[in-house]
Amino acid sequence: MRQKGSPEIIGVSRAITELKDEIARVARSDAKVLITGESGTGKEVVARAINAQSPRAHQPFVPVNCAGIPEALLESELFGHVKGSFTGAYRDKPGKLEMSENGTVFLDEIGEMTLRMQGLLLRFLETGEIQKVGAERPASVRNVRVITATNRNLRDLIQQGLFREDLFYRINVIHIVVPPLRERREDVPLLVEHFLRKFTSRPLNRMSNGYGAAVTSDGQALAPVAEYSPVRAISPEAMAALCEYHWPGNVRQVENVVERLVVTGRREVIQIDDLSPEIRTPGQFHMRPRRERRKTVADELFRKLREDGESFWTAVYPLYMNREITRGNVRDLIHKGLEEARGNYKIVLRLFNMEPGDYKRFLNFLRKHDCQLPFKEYREYR
Ligand SMILES: Nc1ncnc2c1ncn2[C@@H]1O[C@H](COP(=O)(O)OP(=O)(O)OP(=O)(O)O)[C@@H](O)[C@H]1O
Ligand SMILES: [Mg+2]
Repeated sequence: MRQKGSPEIIGVSRAITELKDEIARVARSDAKVLITGESGTGKEVVARAINAQSPRAHQPFVPVNCAGIPEALLESELFGHVKGSFTGAYRDKPGKLEMSENGTVFLDEIGEMTLRMQGLLLRFLETGEIQKVGAERPASVRNVRVITATNRNLRDLIQQGLFREDLFYRINVIHIVVPPLRERREDVPLLVEHFLRKFTSRPLNRMSNGYGAAVTSDGQALAPVAEYSPVRAISPEAMAALCEYHWPGNVRQVENVVERLVVTGRREVIQIDDLSPEIRTPGQFHMRPRRERRKTVADELFRKLREDGESFWTAVYPLYMNREITRGNVRDLIHKGLEEARGNYKIVLRLFNMEPGDYKRFLNFLRKHDCQLPFKEYREYR
C-alpha cells in the first residue's frame, strides 16, 4: 500500500494547537478514534497525522472510502473475496482490513455505510473475524488500528435508525472534533500562504484542474506554474477579505480558491478585485450581521477560563458558592462551553482547565445546582 506522507497541519489557533496536542497523545495508543467535523476541515489530515506519529507509522495506512460504493463492492473491498465468488472475481483478493494488519485502517465517511455493512464491521471489531466474499470459513485479522471519520452527526443517524448504536460506541473510543475554519480565522492567512507556496512552487497538473492547454500529447505533462502564472503574493486587502469570509467549504475551499487565483491570475500580487464577488462582499451573499453586545458575566468568566487558563474550580466555583455570581451566570457559562465543545461535557471539562478525573465531580456539581444543560442541542457539527 502506498504510503502518502503525513501532510503538515497548518494553524496557530488555539483549536489547532489543541488538536495537535491531542493527536500526539492519541497517536501513542492503539485506541479507536472517531474524527468528526464539517466537510473539508481536515479530518483525513488528522487521521494521517495520528498514523504518522504512532508506533505503526511504518506499517500500512489503508484508507477506505465508505461512501459512494455499492454495498457489495464495499464488502469485497473491506473483507476481500475469493476467486469466482462473483462475475469479475478472477482471483482471490485480500480485503483492506487484511491489508492493514499490524497497521492502521482509515474508514472514511463511516456514516454512509449500510446497516448490513455496519453489522459486518461490528462483528470484525468484536471478534477480529473477516468473512471474505465467497469464502467457506472466516479468517481472522487481529492487529489493526481503526480510525473512522464522518461529517455526519452519528447521533442523529442513530435516532433515525440509520446507524447502529453499538457500532457507534465501538468506534467512538476517542472522539476528535475538527473545528470549522470560521471558528479559527487566525489560521486563514497561514493556510492561504501555505497553498500559495504550494501552487506557485510546485508543478500543477493541468489535467486535474481543467484550466487549459498545458498538457502534452500524452496527457501526462506537468507544467511548472511559473511558466503560466505570474502570481507570487497576495495584497493585504485581499488577505483581509479572505479572513472575513465564512468558508463554508473550510480548508478545502481555501485550497481551491488559492489554486484558482494562481491559475487565473494575471498579476504578481493578487488584489481584492481578483477575488470572486462572493468572497469580496460576503454580506450580499451571506447575511451574518455581527452583533455588538455588552459583555456578560459569563463572557468574562469564559475569557478567564479560556484565555487566562484558569480552572473552573478556582475561577468560577468559589464565586458561585459565595453567591458572588448567580446560577444563571453559571448556566450561561456552561452554555458557552457546550457550544465550543459541541455538546461534549468531557471537552468542556478540558476547556475549563479541569483534570479528566474531575468529570464526575463537575457533573455532580452541575446537577446539584441545576446547571446541567442538555448536551443534545449542541451536537450539530456546525
Ligand atoms: N490544517 C491543515 N493544514 C494544511 N492543509 C490542510 C489542513 N486541513 C486540511 N487541509 C487540506 O485541505 C484539504 C481537505 O482536507 P481533508 O481531506 O483532510 O478534509 P476532510 O475533513 O476529510 O473533508 P471531507 O469531509 O470533505 O472528506 C486537503 O487537501 C488537506 O490537505
Ligand atoms: Mg475526507
